[in-house]
Amino acid sequence: MIAERPPMGWNSWNTFGERIDEKLIFETADILVERGYKDAGYEYLIIDDCWALRERDEKGCLVPDPEKFPHGMKAVADYVHKKGLKFGMYSCAGVLTCAGYPSSYDHEFEDAKQFAEWGVDYLKYDYCNFPENADCVNRYHMMSMALKASGREILFAACNWGQKESFNWMRSIGAHTYRSTGDIFDNFRSFTGIFQSQLEHFCQSGPYCFNDMDMLTVGMYNQGNAAIGKPCTNGEYRMQFSMWCLAGTPLIMGADLRKLDPEMEKLLKNEQLISINQDRECRPPYLVGKRSVTVPQEDTDMAVELLRLVKDKLYTFIKHLSGNEFAVAYYNLFEEERKVNFIFADAGVPYGSGYGLSMQDVFTGESLGVKRDYHIVDVPGHDCRVYKCRLVYCGQDKCDG
Ligand code: GLA
Repeated sequence: MIAERPPMGWNSWNTFGERIDEKLIFETADILVERGYKDAGYEYLIIDDCWALRERDEKGCLVPDPEKFPHGMKAVADYVHKKGLKFGMYSCAGVLTCAGYPSSYDHEFEDAKQFAEWGVDYLKYDYCNFPENADCVNRYHMMSMALKASGREILFAACNWGQKESFNWMRSIGAHTYRSTGDIFDNFRSFTGIFQSQLEHFCQSGPYCFNDMDMLTVGMYNQGNAAIGKPCTNGEYRMQFSMWCLAGTPLIMGADLRKLDPEMEKLLKNEQLISINQDRECRPPYLVGKRSVTVPQEDTDMAVELLRLVKDKLYTFIKHLSGNEFAVAYYNLFEEERKVNFIFADAGVPYGSGYGLSMQDVFTGESLGVKRDYHIVDVPGHDCRVYKCRLVYCGQDKCDG
């Protein structure tokens, strides 16, 4: 079965754009295995746009650029498969890909067959240059059917950037993941824009069809293709990675793994965070407290504005996990440190219930013991705190745990 959990892997686009070739893919395959990424769960190695020649051949087939892939795509797929990994490729629903290469509009069935023959396990399917009068839903459905008819099990990673309210129909047409946003860039504003745009759509995601908030930029430090704006800090990368884990979005890395900073490598392999992303119940996170923040009528416009700012800059989430566990996460979008006060009653655990939460920091492994009624924590600017939690009975005053 494919896509029972959010897919995990690596994609060439964010760092390499069109500078791709088989050497890069082979080296990345080696690293995925040798450095333990595969054991951590990253299994798809995906070539994005710019792998083909600018023209189809005389039979109408897509042709891998022989300068970039001198041994052809079957050889690349074989190499990737020998490593125990899965192989991903890219095409587009329009007449040309976003970078102007031939694309699958009106070639859906032949191309899907071709991908299957090469040994492709994952197809990212983009939305550039889509004819104005064509039917988007129907065309995505067509490629979904073409993949089903190809004779190979291929994960369908639809990528129409949330156009045409895709959250309403992507599951119905058989997509396994659907890109719900425009392109990510390796800066803080891009990351916040993306996750804030999906707060209302976290619940439109689950087994066999996951909301995909785009590939990770963690560890890029503004090097490469998706590098625009101010480089991210490690705290900002912690926010991005843990937010993707909480939301159950696919974890597709985008940094150059050959040069990855050790702290970022550790972050991307954090077992606790990955277990939150891969939890078998695949529940969306619940945004705590927003509903309880009210603005009194008599408040001035300024107070209303301040409150709005705080509401958009401090987030507390709780995510239900299997085995009666929970993740609790605080995000601080302010530049300065802020105190966050999580009142457990806002997440269904009032003092009077007699229960508290035992809390363990997922980044440091440190246990906070059992908290009752509330948890106050200082969250540094542009950073987050994430805890794995369990309910513990405390009786009238003392906690068991
Ligand atoms: C679009 C997609 C990106 C990437 C590029 C390739 O912009 O959204 O993720 O695939 O095309 O050209």
